[in-house]
Amino acid sequence: MNHELKIIQTADGSNTIYNPEVGENYHSRHGALQESTHVFLNSGLKYFLEKSGAELTTVSILEVGFGTGLNFLLSADFCTKKKINLDYTGIEAYPLTGEMTSQTGYDQYVSAALWQQFIADYPNALTAEISLTAYCQLQIANCKLLNFQSDQQYDIIYFDAFAVAYQPEMWDEIAMAHTIQFLKPGGVFVTYAITGNLKRALKALGCMVEKAPGAPGKREMLRAVKA
Ligand SMILES: C[S@@+](CC[C@H](N)C(=O)[O-])C[C@H]1O[C@@H](n2cnc3c(N)ncnc32)[C@H](O)[C@@H]1O
Repeated sequence: MNHELKIIQTADGSNTIYNPEVGENYHSRHGALQESTHVFLNSGLKYFLEKSGAELTTVSILEVGFGTGLNFLLSADFCTKKKINLDYTGIEAYPLTGEMTSQTGYDQYVSAALWQQFIADYPNALTAEISLTAYCQLQIANCKLLNFQSDQQYDIIYFDAFAVAYQPEMWDEIAMAHTIQFLKPGGVFVTYAITGNLKRALKALGCMVEKAPGAPGKREMLRAVKA
């Protein structure tokens, strides 16, 4: 799936990757940085921390579709500044090369120390858990979603698969059941899209589902909390 990937610019000036084989970008063409910040950092991580009330010192995130690592970088930068320990696992079936990961231009959006450590260590995260800052651990599971196994449950799931029109199997009841087993009770699932099928699948899995305002270019997104 990694043939002829191209770095392209989105409407907010931030870059994304276009995958010609899938015919789809890794982020919204309306703005990669805006989407990542709105859907995952603000509506996912910050929402979870506010909902949890007490000052949390540790948070765990599972991302489906790690890609460039933009969602990870924004979350790691935020947690490092707030001195919150972040335990982050990304699932990625087709990891980018280190070279492509270093060419996204995402150094502009996070601290220089985090970026340099990420670029240096990214290939190692594909085989073992690595520490990037004093507050941040990363591991990337190089497998397809349905092959991912873990004893761990996470506080937050960032679901960032290609759109349902391009990869319907990532959004069906089987994929959702597999994903939600890794979410703690009270944990938060966020994704940039919302469909009737997705809402029904998550409700059937015992989640409380809500429509939240979408990132630029999308009216709504989905957030779910596991009962
Ligand atoms: C929309 S892009 C993710 C963008 C990413 N979160 C980022 O910020 O760059 C979808 C990602 O899912 C990955 N992917 C495709 N099929 C997958 C599968 N079956 N299991 C896990 N990841 C998959 C793709 O390689 C791609 O990196």
